[in-house]
Amino acid sequence: RKKIILDCDPGHDDAVALLLAHGNPDIELLAVTTVVGNQTLEKVTRNALSVATIAGITGVPFAAGCDRPLVRTIETAPSIHGDSGMDGPEQPESAIELDPRHAVDLIIETVMAHEPGTVTLVPTAGLTNIAMAARKEPRIVERVKEVVLMGGGYHVGNWSAVAEFNIIIDPEAAHIVFNEKWPVVMVGLDLTHQALATDEVVENIAKIGTKPAKFVLELMEFFKKTYKDAQGFDFPPVHDPCAVAYVIDPSVMTTRKVPVDIELQGKLTLGMTVADFRAPAPEDCHTSVAVDLDHKKFWDLVTDAIERIGEP
Ligand code: BDR
Ligand code: CA
Repeated sequence: RKKIILDCDPGHDDAVALLLAHGNPDIELLAVTTVVGNQTLEKVTRNALSVATIAGITGVPFAAGCDRPLVRTIETAPSIHGDSGMDGPEQPESAIELDPRHAVDLIIETVMAHEPGTVTLVPTAGLTNIAMAARKEPRIVERVKEVVLMGGGYHVGNWSAVAEFNIIIDPEAAHIVFNEKWPVVMVGLDLTHQALATDEVVENIAKIGTKPAKFVLELMEFFKKTYKDAQGFDFPPVHDPCAVAYVIDPSVMTTRKVPVDIELQGKLTLGMTVADFRAPAPEDCHTSVAVDLDHKKFWDLVTDAIERIGEP
């Protein structure tokens, strides 16, 4: 099984990412960590615990991390995720207790406790926790198998003309993560804008008929509305589970090995993930970008995971 740490800010699509990681039999979820992003740290942490309660996730530590970006002021996304960060479904009181450790320490301890090259980091939020972990314990950089993150985009932005939300909310952290020598797979908007929750996708999830499935339907209903109103999408792009799906089965998407760096100076381009597609890619290139998604394969994975979770 593939061991992952999910670092997230639930978030409608983070919730689906968590369900996919929990329900898929090829993933061993070692830890879930939260970071300020779609909403405040307090709200996204509560949301993560609610998802865990609904899906019956037990025996996995959940820890809260950084409550603000490294340098910038906090920017949340209520236009997409609502006031709670996960508006739509009713949220149960959480039956799960938070791990007392700081997320950064939990990430470090988990990576250091496993064999080198076995733990994949899957960040689906701003990169504050991951950057802090790399600075606090630099040995994790060699030890981590790879970083498969949802963020960025080489052709398109969503929080500015050229920048994506997870990168622009903490561009300095992103700069650290992309410039460390670990393998980084950027699952950006170019890819995730193909992961649309179409009517057919929603119908297939509806057929499952369990409480977790109903929860996902309610998330998607809200997400569809905000993505239509705020960004003109007919169907919402469900970004974050794409990164988890790549870990499960890389053939769910195509990727290209290209250098990627983060713009920190530009007045119009702050937080842009600048990808250099000139051939040949340098020998020591350690970054790649996701290009094309197999839509059916992806949604089959998500639907199957929800089905396997059953009625906890
Ligand atoms: C990313 O930003 C967040 O709002 C989503 O959860 C996703 O991680 C998409 O730009
Ligand atoms: Ca997210």
